Amino acid sequence: MNPSSGPTDPHSHARPAEVSVRHLQLQLTVDFATQTLAGHATWQLHRSATTASELLLDARDLLIEEVLLGEADAGTPAEFELGPADLVLGQALRIPLEADTTTVTVRYRTGPGAAALQWLQPAQTAGTSPFLFTQSQAILARTWLPCQDSPGVRFTYEARITVPAELLALMSASNPQQLSASGQYEFRMEQPIPAYLMALAVGDLQFAPLSARTGVYAEPATLPGAVDEFADLEQMVAAAEQLYGPYRWERYDLLVLPPSFPFGGMENPRLTFVTPTILAGDRSLTSLVAHELAHSWSGNLVTNATWNDFWLNEGFTVYFERRIMERLYGRPYAEMLQALGHAELLHTLADLGPESPDTHLHLNLAGRDPDEGLTDIAYEKGDYFLLTLEQLVGRAALDSFIKEYFARHAFQSMDTASFLRYLRRELLDQHPGLEARLRPEQWIYGPGIPDNAPPVASARFAAVDAASQNWQNGTPASRLPTADWSSHEWVRFLHNLPAGATTAQLGELDAAFGFTNSGNSEILAAWLPRTIATGYAPAEAALHRFLTRVGRRKFLTPLYKALLASPNNGPARARQLYAEARPNYHAVATSTLDALLGRPAVG
Ligand code: BES
Ligand code: ZN
Repeated sequence: MNPSSGPTDPHSHARPAEVSVRHLQLQLTVDFATQTLAGHATWQLHRSATTASELLLDARDLLIEEVLLGEADAGTPAEFELGPADLVLGQALRIPLEADTTTVTVRYRTGPGAAALQWLQPAQTAGTSPFLFTQSQAILARTWLPCQDSPGVRFTYEARITVPAELLALMSASNPQQLSASGQYEFRMEQPIPAYLMALAVGDLQFAPLSARTGVYAEPATLPGAVDEFADLEQMVAAAEQLYGPYRWERYDLLVLPPSFPFGGMENPRLTFVTPTILAGDRSLTSLVAHELAHSWSGNLVTNATWNDFWLNEGFTVYFERRIMERLYGRPYAEMLQALGHAELLHTLADLGPESPDTHLHLNLAGRDPDEGLTDIAYEKGDYFLLTLEQLVGRAALDSFIKEYFARHAFQSMDTASFLRYLRRELLDQHPGLEARLRPEQWIYGPGIPDNAPPVASARFAAVDAASQNWQNGTPASRLPTADWSSHEWVRFLHNLPAGATTAQLGELDAAFGFTNSGNSEILAAWLPRTIATGYAPAEAALHRFLTRVGRRKFLTPLYKALLASPNNGPARARQLYAEARPNYHAVATSTLDALLGRPAVG
């Protein structure tokens, strides 16, 4: 549970039990012309009583210019060493320490392929300025910062970032709300965080407050829509606090990124990064914000010790997210989210195979890129485990357990074995027979869904399923009772489409419901793969536009897979579209898609 007693992290070269970092002073200049960050990182160290005389940092594709023992302006040069380069893990940066060394400065610049960074041309934004953002989770912080890149290591930080004068810089820290004339920005993060929560964004960004402690940053053209979409943000924070205790990070702001952002959201502390594809115009996709907000407890406060324990971050967060949504919008709404998640879980299980060890909650990702092993299992099976527990002990008991769990382990890391011990001591042992009814070992260390999982049902989806049946039995699309449907009901309806639907049938639905021209990304992402599989030509332009504009990996992968599987020259078309669209994607997306499609010769 702390660096010295927890498991070792197979994805980091650091040895925090010997020497760990505790505070960072970062100074970087952002240069759009050369697409590099350059400057230095000064680390304050914690040295345990061992005789260890070496600091180990993670570095990947960094150009290390100089290492000093001491502060940037007063240190003495050290003979550092860079270990062999692994494509995924990068290199160990080994720094020999003197007996009294407590500060180390690394002067460096980022390399051209720094995988955390995406440098955008003005045409890839909503405006006329370039843009930069980072994505550090899971192990990409080391591509822009020499650090102990393990979720079990926490540090506070301060940063001074210099950017072109007309751009705003933001971090996972205290943030400016206005442009600085000098192009210099100072940041402080006084709560200790792991390296994967280090984040930076630079662009033509403006701020709008939503409440005293919440607000949203976006490009000027995007800001008004974002303000409306996220109007309930303060209510979400208040609901989360009522459920599981105080919000410990002071402000909670959102940053809406350009559409190439590879994820739906990323829980960077104080400043969640979100994709603009949740700006649906009707607030229908804001559960994603509840999710990232929930990480302010599960993940950012109590942090998975290694990526093998990822379910402790994501499973709790999905459960928490749905509790927030239930408080704001009622049980039937939350049940739709639960049912959609459950369907995804069944999909993922079918994909991985019922006996796959990747369907265990506790993962074994050693020797692999964590990014490849982190699937929906952690999210949806993790949530389902908590739902099973909820059903067995009741909400009151589970809620006080979770609240206490966050309070007792705040700003610490947690591994699966320690969690299970804590669960037994604080909850299972208090209720005779509960352990036997829950069977936590089977959930955590076994495959698939144990048979004590409660059924998942949604009354609103039952109505959708009935409408789907009626349509399949001949009721015209225009006569289906869809007037009150939210995007979730539409997504369910699209998932229900039979595999053999014809182009004529898709045409009938499209004419009645306008799927191809939908402004809702979840509806499009459910619709377009069906149009590919069926060879429904009227959607081709929409598909092209979506693939070349949106970089959200969760949407892209199923689309390219559908293209690869489609009979009309599918694989060739997939590769052609990918070659055209790839320059718009972040490295997180291209590494997945290169594996799927092959790396194009150009693009
Ligand atoms: N922390 C994750 C994103 C992540 C996970 C990045 C693993 C890199 C490695 C974030 O909280 C998340 O889960 N985002 C989801 C949305 C959510 C509503 C399920 C996403 O981006 O799709
Ligand atoms: Zn998450």
